[in-house]
Amino acid sequence: MWLTGLSASGKSSIAMALEQALTAQGYSCYVLDGDNIRDGLNANLGFSPEDRTENIRRVGEVAALFADAGLICITAFISPYRADRARARQSCGEAFHEIHISADLATCESRDPKGLYKKARSGELREFTGVSAPYEIPEQPQLAIDTAREDIAASVVKLVTYVERNVPLIRAIPR
Ligand code: ADX
Repeated sequence: MWLTGLSASGKSSIAMALEQALTAQGYSCYVLDGDNIRDGLNANLGFSPEDRTENIRRVGEVAALFADAGLICITAFISPYRADRARARQSCGEAFHEIHISADLATCESRDPKGLYKKARSGELREFTGVSAPYEIPEQPQLAIDTAREDIAASVVKLVTYVERNVPLIRAIPR
């Protein structure tokens, strides 16, 4: 489950809530996001176009390994470039589901939980997505969720329904 969208669009919050909901249904899940990937495996990468591409290349490969191991891997990265997401799709094959967390820039900027948009506007932070770096909107996502209009709970209901319809449940312990 590849969540893509602007900073502060709600990707990580939705990923965590989705993981909880799917785990309760009997799915095995794992979330990859900036907290566990950019602090470790990708600690050597910044936010230049090249580094973002490498960030997403590695996340795509790791997600493919998780899927191969039978887990639902939920990724929460801006992943701003179409070509990078297309490559991740290639790595994961049919298991790749692109979910656009589509809150608009004004909404994300008004949330600004870490004050990064403010820093980007003042020029203190460069190459910030949506302000001074591009975000290429998904053209044909499997699902789009607008967190400006729907809260986390409603978003998760949509996603769980999508997973139940599209991802076969393999129970580790048959009931
Ligand atoms: S990606 O573009 O390479 O996919 P990623 O999702 O890993 O980005 O990281 C985005 C998060 O890093 C943002 O939500 C924000 O908290 C932080 N960040 C720091 N600098 C930047 C920047 N220049 N552009 C976007 N996000 C940044």
